[in-house]
Amino acid sequence: MLEKRILIAATIFALAVAGTIAMTVRMFGIGVPTCLTDVRPFKDGKVIEQGPKRYEIHYVARMWRFDPPDIDIPPGSTADIYLSTADVTHGLQIVGTNVNLMAVPGAVNFARVKFDKQGDYLVVCNEYCGAQHHNMAGRIHVAPTAPQVVKQEEQPVLEKYGCTACHSIDGSPSPGPTFKGLYGSKRTLANGMIVTADEAYLAESITKPDAKVVKGFDAMPSIDVPPADLHAIVEMLEKLK
Ligand code: CUA
Repeated sequence: MLEKRILIAATIFALAVAGTIAMTVRMFGIGVPTCLTDVRPFKDGKVIEQGPKRYEIHYVARMWRFDPPDIDIPPGSTADIYLSTADVTHGLQIVGTNVNLMAVPGAVNFARVKFDKQGDYLVVCNEYCGAQHHNMAGRIHVAPTAPQVVKQEEQPVLEKYGCTACHSIDGSPSPGPTFKGLYGSKRTLANGMIVTADEAYLAESITKPDAKVVKGFDAMPSIDVPPADLHAIVEMLEKLK
């Protein structure tokens, strides 16, 4: 008889614990980190907009960066985060949130997070993963004017040379002319001349920024871009028109 009572008490206790966890999860909108066994590890990072303020983020951790490195979403968004690794074990912590996941080879880990506050959230690796571990970081930019999701394919080469630091890709104002609609457009230069932004113009503007300065903008510092990357950047700009 005593045993039966103990059993009942234990069951009630277990249910209470489960209930408390479920309520906490619901109240704070935070998912308990989960290892998903039914999802295959993926090779490419991406952001999928599932609906208004609903995002699915596929992160791939690799030596030594997160893919996608930068993500823009509006405040109040809920993000389902799926994490894979392309090489060794990494960590993924989103500073200022409860998200703290491990990226384990062969597995996909999951957490849900709601971004209520605006600002830049730093994404860091918190598992030692080699020489550049301390430099492994990404960013989630939470702002109302957040441009729509930057498509993964459009990022690497523009990121590599820091282009998007000064040139927006969605038409929003930026220190340099926006890339959106740039290709093929007519540019009025500081000297009053009007030119067409064709491939030759774009290539020249990247390698010799002060050759043709667009009216209303300062010439950017010249950057050293090898021909293959120069070609890739110009191609990217063509796509962004
Ligand atoms: Cu990746 Cu440390």
